[in-house]
Amino acid sequence: MTVLSRSLDDLAAAAAAMLAELARISDASDNLTRLYLSPAHRRAADLVRGWMEQAGARASIDAAGNVVGRFGPERAPTLYCGSHIDTVVDAGRYDGTLGVVAALLAAEEIMRSGADLPFAIEVLAFGDEENVRFPTSLSSTHAIAGGYDPAWLTRRDADGTSLAEALRAFGGDPDAIVGLARDPAGATGYLEIHIEQGPVLERSGLPLGVVTAINAAWRADCVVRGEAGHAGTVPMFLRRDALAGAAEMVCAIERLGAGIADGVATVGRISAMPGAVNVVPGEVRFSIDARTPSDAALAGLVAEIDATCAAIASRRGLDFACTPFMQAPATAMDDGLQQALADAAQRVGIAAPRIPSGAGHDAVAMARLCPVGMLFVRCAGGISHNPAESVADPDLGIAVVVMIEAIRAVAETRGR
Ligand code: HGY
Ligand code: MN
Ligand code: MN
Repeated sequence: MTVLSRSLDDLAAAAAAMLAELARISDASDNLTRLYLSPAHRRAADLVRGWMEQAGARASIDAAGNVVGRFGPERAPTLYCGSHIDTVVDAGRYDGTLGVVAALLAAEEIMRSGADLPFAIEVLAFGDEENVRFPTSLSSTHAIAGGYDPAWLTRRDADGTSLAEALRAFGGDPDAIVGLARDPAGATGYLEIHIEQGPVLERSGLPLGVVTAINAAWRADCVVRGEAGHAGTVPMFLRRDALAGAAEMVCAIERLGAGIADGVATVGRISAMPGAVNVVPGEVRFSIDARTPSDAALAGLVAEIDATCAAIASRRGLDFACTPFMQAPATAMDDGLQQALADAAQRVGIAAPRIPSGAGHDAVAMARLCPVGMLFVRCAGGISHNPAESVADPDLGIAVVVMIEAIRAVAETRGR
């Protein structure tokens, strides 16, 4: 076991305090909302950069808005670790940020221990994992991993601001993104700690789990068009009610998602125009998020959703259009890194079961660059994407210590 400069309790308290400070940085006055490239994202990035420098790293905020803290020589193989600091709307304080804080504390402890590592450690705080503001897919992570799609720069948020405009206002540089891609030849691997966002670990009474794979995911924006009309005079049999049609589609999407083993399908956002109490809705826009453990199962689910919605529209005399904007493949975690994480937990006296991930993570993008591994931390009731999201402080300390031992285990295997 690594000799720590701080006790487990002190590491847990340090992590909890850092997470509390980040949770106070929001674009909303009454909840935690920190979207990619927003003023709150900038403040949070500046704060994390300062922490990285205090921990002894060379730190910067890159052209895509990622915060990068490097421990060790510039020209050396690199072990990447971290997660994201952007949030959903009305978020919890642990989703993403726990992985950044735990990685930073672990790197600092390893540097203080004087460990002779065969690689540098780069702690990363990504900015666009939730993809809530712009219809992209892990864009700033892909900038690091080498999979950036320049078309993302033209995507616009709800106010009509393009990602490129927002990036310049943030202090980033769209033209320099292409230069951020890391060299796969020098990438030892990527480790990410994240809350489970599900109930399995808590129900098993265990604090940690080693992730085996991340589900495939697909997202789309849909439009249903009918005919606006007077709610008092248009007979029911003559209506082309876009909202009634969309409602039937939403229930069909729910049924289709439930019909696939370990599949999920969600309509998270919907709006009806013109939105007046006495007008039959003429147009409805809604989102779809569908996920399954395999790419093949997802392709089948997406095809069924599309065909079913089209049939509902046809029967009701409506127009239906579905525009996919995100597709993430099922992503297997590296066997060697899974073992390193499991060994690390065992060194700390923790049994960490293998567990799949229904949620998407930055590791999906980083898997393009190098082998990836993830560690889950239990969260109360499995609640996430909700201000009630919570992690017991002792589990924060255990996560940091297991991360330290995992980095050491990777050094003992990969780096030699
Ligand atoms: O939606 C997800 O799976 C992740 O939390 N962005
Ligand atoms: Mn997350
Ligand atoms: Mn999330």
